[in-house]
Amino acid sequence: MTDGVGVTKHRARRTAFIFLGSVAGLLVLALGTILTVGGIFVPAAYLQPWSATYYRQFADPRMQVVAQAVLAPSGHNMQPWTVHLDKTDARVLYLYTDPTRLTPAVDPLARQTLVSQGTFLAYLQVAAEHLGYSATFALFPNGSYDENNLKKSMSELPVARVTLAKDSDAKTDDYASLFLSDTNRSPYTSAPLTAAQTSDLSDLADGSAATLSILSDKRDMTTLGNFGKQGTLIETQYEAATKESDAVFHSTEQAKNTARSGFAVEGQGTSGFMKYFLQGLITLVPSVNDDAAGAKNAIALTAAGVDHTAAYGLISTPANTRTEQVEAGILYAQFSLRARTLGLVMQPLSQVLQEYPTMAAPYAAIHAQYAPDGQTIQMLVRMGTATTQYPESMRRDASALVHKP
Ligand SMILES: Cc1cc2nc3c(=O)[nH]c(=O)nc-3n(C[C@H](O)[C@H](O)[C@H](O)COP(=O)(O)O)c2cc1C
Repeated sequence: MTDGVGVTKHRARRTAFIFLGSVAGLLVLALGTILTVGGIFVPAAYLQPWSATYYRQFADPRMQVVAQAVLAPSGHNMQPWTVHLDKTDARVLYLYTDPTRLTPAVDPLARQTLVSQGTFLAYLQVAAEHLGYSATFALFPNGSYDENNLKKSMSELPVARVTLAKDSDAKTDDYASLFLSDTNRSPYTSAPLTAAQTSDLSDLADGSAATLSILSDKRDMTTLGNFGKQGTLIETQYEAATKESDAVFHSTEQAKNTARSGFAVEGQGTSGFMKYFLQGLITLVPSVNDDAAGAKNAIALTAAGVDHTAAYGLISTPANTRTEQVEAGILYAQFSLRARTLGLVMQPLSQVLQEYPTMAAPYAAIHAQYAPDGQTIQMLVRMGTATTQYPESMRRDASALVHKP
């Protein structure tokens, strides 16, 4: 009798053990599959340009600065840059817009693409100064684009002629900031900007064709936060925009190593083990990241962000010429780099500044309130002190930017 009970108990324990063991085994197998699909064993070549020594593989100082300028922020992380090294003058390089890297749904006038030319130039300048060169720019040295033939113009007309000159006085305070992740989409702490920070940042606009306003009074905070939320809501309902973003979103390490531009889960603040887990999950169960889920996520992220923001920055230009767009980008990148040097972070909220029909009403409203003399607002950004560090995002190999005629 006793023996029978003992045997039964023993069998039940063994069955439970086998059952739990099988479940655990299946879970480990599932986790292993998800992480492997998510690319945990694939080296992230797309992060190489973030290494402090990456530029040293190039002997030509022009390529050394290009290799650091690729760290610049760009709309949709398209990195729409091509460079041409002057064969007759070893100090000179030309920057062109790459017309194969446009995002026409959200940026129908290619305005943000031109702002993104300016960010590249500002990063290049900081890299040059660190290496003991001054970098001077002539914008549109061969004339401005033919707007009726824009893509062709982008291929033919340089945005800038950049001249590097050895300069023993060259120096920069912002070099280390080049290597800190650019865009932080998380909620920020409640710490306001100090008067010294605001003054240091505001001074950057001295001598620029663009203006910079840093706003933190309660009314502006509410109004600009609402513009941010409204813009995100409208954009998530604009199918052409969501399709465009989906097309440049890459969910595996393999795909990221091929594209080295566009969006990935890092842009939502995901890193480490969770990055591989999420990437595997998205690949195996795409509905986890479908448009409905993406829209919900974007709206929630913007709402949390604007509710935890210390100040807003507005960069505007008197008109909206191509040169002014580039100047605005230069100022934006200088602003963003200096902010990081001062321990601050920022995130552009560009939706409300975009020029497609369903955004027309908030576009007009923000310009009526914040650009009453007919200026164009080129950048709207939220800023503050980070609560979490954001991971670095994909960057192209510098050699891939070089134009080979
Ligand atoms: C012209 C321009 C517009 C941008 N607009 C937005 C935006 O609306 N929302 C956002 O979260 N990031 C925006 N960004 C940031 C880019 O998405 C970001 O630079 C890019 O994805 C690379 O990531 P990183 O800056 O973190 O390196 C913008 C950047 C530029 C230069």
